[in-house]
Amino acid sequence: MENSLAHVAIIMDGNGRWAKKQGKVRTFGHYEGVKNVRRIAIHANERGVRYLTLYAFSTENWKRPKEEVGYLMSLPKIFFESYLKELMEKNIRVTMIGSLKEIPAEARKYFQGAIERTKENTGMVLCFALNYGSRREIVEAAKAYAAEVAAGKENELSEEEFSSYLQTAGMPDVDLLIRTSGEERISNFLLYQLAYSELIFDEKAWPEFDEDEFDKCLQEYERRNRRFGGLNA
Ligand code: FPP
Repeated sequence: MENSLAHVAIIMDGNGRWAKKQGKVRTFGHYEGVKNVRRIAIHANERGVRYLTLYAFSTENWKRPKEEVGYLMSLPKIFFESYLKELMEKNIRVTMIGSLKEIPAEARKYFQGAIERTKENTGMVLCFALNYGSRREIVEAAKAYAAEVAAGKENELSEEEFSSYLQTAGMPDVDLLIRTSGEERISNFLLYQLAYSELIFDEKAWPEFDEDEFDKCLQEYERRNRRFGGLNA
């Protein structure tokens, strides 16, 4: 299947509920969720998606019980130890948005290592939103711009130039946002970048959101008629 999708973003929701339903602990759902990151990243790359941004940990997720936060912070090690080699073979480049500052040293090390190791790759960009919050990102961008103006820059800001102050600078706007597990919220994810995105709220929980379900979302996207606020030709 051919498609013109430049940027797909996913809110990987439902790990905990999916695990509970099977009588397992919530962390089992996160573990299966990590395996699914590999499955969907490889598949999206094969489908010609250029950027895949995954919401791995939000600035609000720190409010979860300490044990669960601890487990979530062990996921980068599990993921990159298991799959970095394969990401290299598939020419996938790893990047991230959010802040590594508050992230425990070990998780930070795995991310920095993967970003460095894959930086010359020219295939799909696999961008993790980690310790990410969109309002924070927008406020930081506004502050950075204001500081430049205070230092003498001419104050003539276009929407496009403002994008270059966001952490997603250089990435195209999101074409398609998918949220799994039936919740219909944006949850402080890529608010500026989602302005004209198609939104799909999929009933499957993240660990069971497989290649077929991803393809169904691509087909649904292609059926939709994107007008960017204009009229049909
Ligand atoms: C939401 O499910 C999911 C998360 C908070 C974590 C998602 C992260 C991954 C799947 C893996 C990230 C991978 C790397 C490499 C960092 P939930 O627990 O909120 O589900 P629930 O709504 O059923 O409780």
